[in-house]
Amino acid sequence: MKNIDSHSHVRGESVFLDDIPIVQGTLFACVFDSPVAHGKLKSIDTSEAEKSDGVFRVITAEDIVGENQIGGIIPDEPLLADGEVHFAGMPIAIVLAESEELARKAAKKITVEIEELDPVLDPRVAVANGDLIVPPKKFILGDAQTAFNNCEHVFEGRTETNGQEHLYIETQGAYAVPMENGAIKVYSSTQGPTAVQRAVCRVTGLPMHQVEVDVQRLGGGFGGKEDQANAWAAICAVGTQLTKRPVKYALHRMEDMRMTGKRHPYSSDYKIGFDKDLKIVAYEATFYQNAGASCDLSPPVLERTLFHCTNSYFVPNVTATAYCCRTNLPPNTAFRGFGGPQGMFVIESAIAHAAEKLGVPAAEIQRKNLIDDGDEFPYGQIAESDAITSWTQADSKYDFAALQKEADDFNASSKYFKKGVAMMPVCFGISFTKTPMNQARSLVHVYTDGSVAVSTAAVEMGQGVNTKIAQVTAKVFGLPIEKVRVNTTNTSRIANTSPTAASAAADLNGKATEMACQAIIDRLIEVAMPLIEAGTAEDVTFEEGFVHLRGERTSLDWQTLVMDAHLQRVNLSEHAHYATPGINFDWGTAKGHPFAYHVYGTAIVGVAVDCLRGRYEVDYVKCCHDFGSSMNTAVDYGQIEGGIVQGIGWMTMEEVFYDKTGKLRSNALSTYKVPDIYSAPKEIAIQPLETTRENLAVFNSKAVGEPPLMYGIGAYFAIRNAMKAFTACSPGFDAPFTPEKVLMHLYQPEEASR
Ligand code: MTE
Ligand code: HPA
Ligand code: MOS
Repeated sequence: MKNIDSHSHVRGESVFLDDIPIVQGTLFACVFDSPVAHGKLKSIDTSEAEKSDGVFRVITAEDIVGENQIGGIIPDEPLLADGEVHFAGMPIAIVLAESEELARKAAKKITVEIEELDPVLDPRVAVANGDLIVPPKKFILGDAQTAFNNCEHVFEGRTETNGQEHLYIETQGAYAVPMENGAIKVYSSTQGPTAVQRAVCRVTGLPMHQVEVDVQRLGGGFGGKEDQANAWAAICAVGTQLTKRPVKYALHRMEDMRMTGKRHPYSSDYKIGFDKDLKIVAYEATFYQNAGASCDLSPPVLERTLFHCTNSYFVPNVTATAYCCRTNLPPNTAFRGFGGPQGMFVIESAIAHAAEKLGVPAAEIQRKNLIDDGDEFPYGQIAESDAITSWTQADSKYDFAALQKEADDFNASSKYFKKGVAMMPVCFGISFTKTPMNQARSLVHVYTDGSVAVSTAAVEMGQGVNTKIAQVTAKVFGLPIEKVRVNTTNTSRIANTSPTAASAAADLNGKATEMACQAIIDRLIEVAMPLIEAGTAEDVTFEEGFVHLRGERTSLDWQTLVMDAHLQRVNLSEHAHYATPGINFDWGTAKGHPFAYHVYGTAIVGVAVDCLRGRYEVDYVKCCHDFGSSMNTAVDYGQIEGGIVQGIGWMTMEEVFYDKTGKLRSNALSTYKVPDIYSAPKEIAIQPLETTRENLAVFNSKAVGEPPLMYGIGAYFAIRNAMKAFTACSPGFDAPFTPEKVLMHLYQPEEASR
């Protein structure tokens, strides 16, 4: 089953925000943003901009009709700076002009007087200053303090992981159009149409039923548009409200890179303790999350760091503490993995550290400590674990020992090129960790010609969710996929949506769609029974566009039946609601059963490092991955390949760089290196995990969007292993492992004695 968008994508006919035809009278917005990271905003001079060619109006904080506030979790994020600026790139004023070019030209003529204050960029400094966005969070299992006293080996250290630019191909943007009676329709490139609707209502003062948000598809989101599409939609809506004209803003790449938040950088401390058999007995971790200037989604991201702080391992005694630190960077936000990768990197570093000191392969420690059925996660959920089966199946399929030997043999005869191998197990929980968000609705219409249209809360952003929704519909109705159309994601058709995030969109919206289709089928069976002389409803099924009786095709086709039903005044539409059963989490005790299920997998990553130049290539990523039973292998393999490359990018070459004043220097594709075709692994091998377990996924087809990103973490440790084959170095755990960093470590012999 091909992705239903492939035809229109290849022909360039797919509609993104910038392809929406412009309504006459449209104004184009451009934001003037803060040139400094922290300061008192003394005055804004917009007079020259207002006189500039084609400018219709300039808007500042005081013009906002509703509340100048878009903070979703806590109200700490003004739409436009008022009195203070908190990060370089913070929006201060909006210029509306007759064209994009004229708006941008005018924005350059705005001047501000800012009394600069020292920016805080380091999360540990923010903690020392007491500048936390929310109180610290803690997970406790067993008694780590006492357990450390009885450990045979204890290791302590510190890790750093940097941010990551989302680099969705389509930048952020929105288009607001005035409707009658003061209503506003907003087209937005967002993962969260309801989040956009709420933000627009807040800044305009309109009730939610006066604001309609519509999303055709995104050219990528990766978490960057879960919350951070809101500002641009709010800016356009404020413009529309004040001018009664349509307002569009599609950010240029450099505006987007400068003004939007990224993956959260973390600085973390770990302490890990083993018994004499190398079982991990105790683990203590402290996470300092660099949240940026306002809350955004930082608290739930931080929570997921805690949820995944022990990755695929069982540790009986855990104390994990997490700090949400306010700094003067753009507010950091959701990014594929949602804090999970940051937590996993720390325990993988702790294990690599121990392996190095104890002189055993890290894989031996990893293998010994994989979580098993019945083991408890630090948050109280009991594992139904495929950690061991995925490891074993990856090993038997790809033979870790043979790959290691191949690397060793190569290294023995190669002076300057060295190979390294690492195992990377992954365990990722599926469900929003905030239980109420795990709900979705689907609206299914069967038309009298037999064609079907489906609306859900799911947003298509390249991950293929619309294809899966269409497949669910076609499957329940027994129709070819061509009979099904998936509509835009629209708040007037589907209300109060959770964002398309947490890898759960196909599960939640697919389940709701399955329910809606089943309700219609149940009514159609009633209509069909007398027509085909069926005795019981169980005898009637729908396949290949025909009604079947006890498995035999009848002459009654779908279209005839549908028209018959309509003439009998039977309802051919259904609006169904799905809420994931059996999940809960209590932050009072920090225990519960937050996830519908976990996705497991194990990857073997092999790299080759050029030890003269510090450059490296990823030779292969070979994984055994838990799909449940994939509904669409083309889509799911694509998600794995994309996730792996994005994970490798985060761990190796992508380097978000802010200078001492808090200005983003990696602010364009010339200064921010993302993986290209040459840096993708030469081989990605995917072996579906064989398991017969039931799960709560739609048609047992498990969520796949985020978990594979974390296989990329293996690249960091494979590079480190290759380096150790060249020289007795002991690089710290400070990602990304850029070629410069690799080279420096290779020629710092004093490290070996540490
Ligand atoms: N794949 C593509 N092509 N583009 C994207 O923006 N986002 C990822 C993942 N895969 C993304 C993607 C993220 S962050 C998530 S949470 C999931 O897709 C969301 O979609 P799903 O719930 O349908 O898996
Ligand atoms: N994952 C992704 N996005 C989210 C989550 C989550 O667990 N919670 C809130 N937004
Ligand atoms: Mo994904 S980070 O949950 O949008």
